[in-house]
Amino acid sequence: MHMPSMHLIVTDTREEAVNRAAGFIAGLVAQRGDPVLGLATGRTMEDVYRALVARHEQEGLDFSGVTSFNLDEYVGLGPEDVRSYHHYMRSLLFDRVGMPSSHTHLPDGTAHDPDAECAAYEKAIREAGGIDLQLLGIGDTGHIGFNEPPSPFDSRTRCVRLDRQTREQNAAMFGNDPDAVPDRALTMGVGTILEADSLLMLALGSAKAEIVARALEGPVGPEISASAIRLHPRCTVILDARSASALSPQLRAAHA
Ligand code: F6R
Repeated sequence: MHMPSMHLIVTDTREEAVNRAAGFIAGLVAQRGDPVLGLATGRTMEDVYRALVARHEQEGLDFSGVTSFNLDEYVGLGPEDVRSYHHYMRSLLFDRVGMPSSHTHLPDGTAHDPDAECAAYEKAIREAGGIDLQLLGIGDTGHIGFNEPPSPFDSRTRCVRLDRQTREQNAAMFGNDPDAVPDRALTMGVGTILEADSLLMLALGSAKAEIVARALEGPVGPEISASAIRLHPRCTVILDARSASALSPQLRAAHA
């Protein structure tokens, strides 16, 4: 498998990795003014958003022209639910950098007709001119967004069933009870993600090391959704030393 142009950055510390990722996003916002950002949630991104808020407060980084589309939302959680990704995004980023709700988009997990909601989400992305930069984390199952295996690489925004492993991964927000984590979510598809103009994946910590190595060096295919990023012509992966610890010396050397 050839690896067209993945740009791999491995940093010594977690803080450096977070700052590189935030700097990447901030650079696009400062340069373009009105980019369309694809955003992710989860623990990995919390510090990225804190770093962006700091740049807004200290350096005047202006988010007023930014449009955003998030990857996913749990089915059944309304925007006011503190466990929803709507709430996560408002409290960690949107309200802090002055992004009005008219500029921010997440799938509606309470939609009566999830299929229609997903189709409308795809349409809204297209009407915004597509996503310029899609931020991605990686889940324990190798998912990007909530694209659990196997997710076809041409999959679109849709309702998915969450793996047990993912519900365990995300149980902290639900009283450490995996059964309390919704079992379904609306997520952009792998195909939707691959249509973004560029991709930025961030992974942190030793718990991600094995799945990062499988995604970046194992077979490319729907069993590991994150392996799809290797097919994208403009993809940057930022890892701290711990999450990069299972990569082969060859891959590390090729990107040194
Ligand atoms: C969240 C998302 C997921 C997470 C992944 C890693 O919007 O799309 O793919 O990025 O589950 O989550 P954390 O960062 O909590 O390990």
